This record gives sequence, structure tokens and C-alpha cells, in this order.
Amino acid sequence: MRFVYLIAFIELICAVYGYKILVVFPMPAFSHFRLGSTLADGLAEAGHDVTLVSPFEDKKVPGNGSLRSVVLSLIRELKNDNNFNIFDIAKSGVFLETLFMSYIGNDATNRTLEDPALQRLLHSNEKFDVVIIEQFINDELKALAWHFDAPLIMFSTMGATAWLNSISGNPSPPSYIPDTFVEYGSSMTLWQRTKNSLVKLSHDLTRYFIVYPAQDEMVKRHFPGCPSVETLSYNVSLFFVNSHESFAQSVPLVPNMINIGGYHVQPPKKLPVDLQKILDGAKDGVIFFSMGSNIIPSQMKSETKQALIDVLGGLKETVLWKWDEDDLLGKTDNIVIRKWFPQMDVLAHPNVKLFITHGGLLSTTETIYHGVPILALPVFGDQRLNAAKAVDAGFGVFLHFQDLTKDLFSSALNEALKNPKYLENARRRSVFLHDRPMKPMDLAVYWTEFVARFRGAPHLRVAAVDMPWYKYFLVDVMAMLMMMCLVVMTLLYLIVRKVCCRRTNNLKLKKN
Ligand SMILES: *[C@@H]1O[C@H](CO)[C@@H](O)[C@H](O)[C@H]1NC(C)=O
Ligand SMILES: *[C@@H]1O[C@H](CO)[C@@H](O)[C@H](O)[C@H]1NC(C)=O
Repeated sequence: MRFVYLIAFIELICAVYGYKILVVFPMPAFSHFRLGSTLADGLAEAGHDVTLVSPFEDKKVPGNGSLRSVVLSLIRELKNDNNFNIFDIAKSGVFLETLFMSYIGNDATNRTLEDPALQRLLHSNEKFDVVIIEQFINDELKALAWHFDAPLIMFSTMGATAWLNSISGNPSPPSYIPDTFVEYGSSMTLWQRTKNSLVKLSHDLTRYFIVYPAQDEMVKRHFPGCPSVETLSYNVSLFFVNSHESFAQSVPLVPNMINIGGYHVQPPKKLPVDLQKILDGAKDGVIFFSMGSNIIPSQMKSETKQALIDVLGGLKETVLWKWDEDDLLGKTDNIVIRKWFPQMDVLAHPNVKLFITHGGLLSTTETIYHGVPILALPVFGDQRLNAAKAVDAGFGVFLHFQDLTKDLFSSALNEALKNPKYLENARRRSVFLHDRPMKPMDLAVYWTEFVARFRGAPHLRVAAVDMPWYKYFLVDVMAMLMMMCLVVMTLLYLIVRKVCCRRTNNLKLKKN
């Protein structure tokens, strides 16, 4: 009974003051920042005192609670210093891509920890009730929770990835769950399942042999006395997964993995006057074309660009194209280019018929939120998988960006526009995204408060996280069963031989 009073008392205090929450989203990409800042804003609105560590400043002033930004500067130069073209990386194949990501992940983690702003926070005497970190090949950052002696929540921007599944003990059989980096649907051929299993294995190998050793070095340097990265990884209280069955594959989730996909989508705001006019006036409908915030469209091959212009220019629909330069040579009158569009508000407009997208997870979520079908032109990372899932769910057409030719693009576009099944499925999936027992942001707030209230949630972890791999995969059991079989077979053999020998001996005796 006393324990109940204690809890009630703590809850009362927290209802007045809220919890102190540290949210760390270090990746210098706007899509990642949007997920982090929306989560931080939502937690602040629920009355908490939130600190957001990220490369950008969150300028929002919450109506409740408080929100403060700790702005990272070193990591903002990650892209420039490593000087890469995403279109080139995509050509290298999935195994090299995994290696490349590990390398970038290590570099990014180093930059995050050495940042003066984060160092100031670490050397202040601040305390936190819970730490939320974006999982992105930055396992060393889990030491922040150790440093502040707070329970840890990890956040996945890309659904339940191999990385997350390994440290949470979440079952993810490669027989029907395609890896984040492949482009298969849930029904795979023998060859696809083989490749899928190898890709899954390659994640584990790069993690153990490239990422953990490098990040352990960093842990030793920055956090003397801290347990190893591997130990920290298996001690996570909860995982927020930015996914949902309405637009992604239905997969097993252990009890401490919570799907909150869709929480970042805001109700539509009023469009700028000029855009509103264009959208309202488009009698034949609108096609919205955006490759997201990380891909620079003008870096594409000139043949690809020409093919896109040729096909889109021949349509009767109005095309809104997110293009990063002031001009687009050869553009026709039905094409409107802008460096930026308020994507969620454009997708909300009833005249939008189709979204041509790179297939990023945020874009996929937003399009399903508004029930708009897609033509996916994925380039790298999880985009191919999102596109394959859209095909599986029947709300999208998939065309590899690298393979794009005028003919292929034209027929894919035709299919997406003329076949009504894509729109029907997109609308149906949209209903599933909205019809949930609790709004996803409320779910995130509930679970964050839960973890803070009980200072962790070890009872939610499955026992798999404390098991060595050979026990988990029952290698020891199989070895024992095989031994038993061997013993039984040997015994049988010996008995049979004995009996037969005796009989032949008897026969021989009789003959004599
Ligand atoms: C503001 O925060 C308090 C907790 O500090 C909470 O009880 C209240 O519901 C919050 N108000 C809104 C509008 O969310
Ligand atoms: C594991 O997490 C719990 C709860 O957050 C914490 O009390 C404990 O110290 C952590 N253990 C290690 C080894 O970090």
C-alpha cells in the first residue's frame, strides 16, 4: 500500500513540474531533425522540460512545459567534409553501402561528442529523468544515459531495422522480413532470401567488427568507467519505431518496441496564396514531384533529367517539381519548379492525384496520411524497401531511379495515373493510419512518462537480450540432439553387427 502512495506522490510532483527529458537527434539531415523536433515539441506540450540536442535550432515556443535547443555545430559539416554524391553511393551495391554507413556513423558520433555545446552539457551538473536518442550507427551515444544516470529510450527513424532487432531481441526472420537495405516485398524467391540473409549477417558483422571497436575507443576517451557499447546496447528500456502497419509491412515487435509512425504529421495549414491558386486552378489535377530534402536533384545525370522533362512536359496535369536550381532548361508550362514546397499542405489538397517521390519514410507516411498514391523512384538506403512495401500494399508503383529511361518512366507514370487501384488502396491505408486507439504522439508521451516514472522498464525486455547467440539459435540444443542421434545410431550399429556376426558364426558352425 505504501508503495502506491509513493507512486501517487511522485506522480503529483511530476504533474506539477513535468520530467526533465533529453532528446538527442544528431544526424545533420532535415528529415531527421523534423522527427526529433516534433517529438521534443510534443513532449514539451505535455508539460515536460525538454532539451533537444541536434544540428539545428528548434525555434518553437511550446504552450506548456519548456523546450531548449543545444545546437551541434561540428556535425553540420559531415556531408561537405566527406564530400559524397548520393547517386554514386547508391551505385556501389548494398554491402558497400553498409560499410559506408558504418564509416559515416563513426565519424558522426565522434563529431557529436566532441562538440563544444554537448561537452558543456556533459560538464554541467544537470540531471535528466529520461534520455531519448536517435539510433543511427551511434551506439556510443548510449553512454549519455549512463552519464546522466537515466533510463534510455532509442528512436528508430526507419522502422524496426536489423540494428534495433539485434539489441532488442526482436524476432525478424529473413525468410519473410526484408532488410532495410534491400528492395524486396514480403514474398521472396530463394535467391532473394539468400541475399536478404547475407545482408542481415553483414549488418551484424560490421557492427561487431567495425562499429563497436571504434565506438568503444570513443567511450573510453569520453566516459571513463562506462561499460562497453555492447553492454549499453542491451540495456535499452524502450524503442520508439517510426513506422506503422498502414504503410509498412506487418512485423513482430517485442513489448518494448512501440510503433509511433505518423506522429510527425501536422494537420494541414493554409497554403501560400500563389500555390493555392495554382492547385485550385489545376482542372486536370496535380502531380507533386519531390525527391526529399537529402537528395540534390540537379546532381542527377543529364539523360535522366531530359527523360523526366520529356515525359512530365507531355502531361495535361500540372506538375509541381521540387528543384534546387533557379531554372530548369526545357521546362514546359505545366511544370512549376520551386526550391521548397510545404509538402504536407500540398499533399492535403484534393486536386493532388499522384506523388512522385524518392520513397523516404516521412514522405511515405505523409502521402498515406492524405491518401495520395505514389510513383516511387528510390535511390538509396531504406527508400527501396519503402517502395517495395508500397507495391505490396498496392498504393504505389516502383521504378529504380538509376534505371529510369523515358519509356520506363512513361509507362510507370501511366500505370500509376490510369489504374484506379492505387488511389483506392492509398485511401484505404489512410483510414488505417488514422483509426488507432491512441494518437501516435499521445502514445509517445505516455511511454516516455512511463519509463521516467519507473526509472526504466526492464520487465518489458525479452530474455533474448541476455542470451549468447548460440543459446538463442539453439545451437547447443541441436548439437546435443545430434550427439544423441549419433550415440543411438552407433549403439544400433554395434548391436546389429553383434547379432549378425553371431548368426554367421552359427551358420558356419552348422555347415561344419
Ligand atoms: C500541461 O502540463 C501539465 C503537466 O505539467 C498537464 O497536466 C497538462 O495537461 C498540460 N496541458 C496541456 C494543454 O497539455
Ligand atoms: C541499465 O539500465 C538501468 C535502468 O535504466 C540502470 O539502472 C542500470 O544502471 C543500467 N546498467 C548498465 C550496465 O548501464
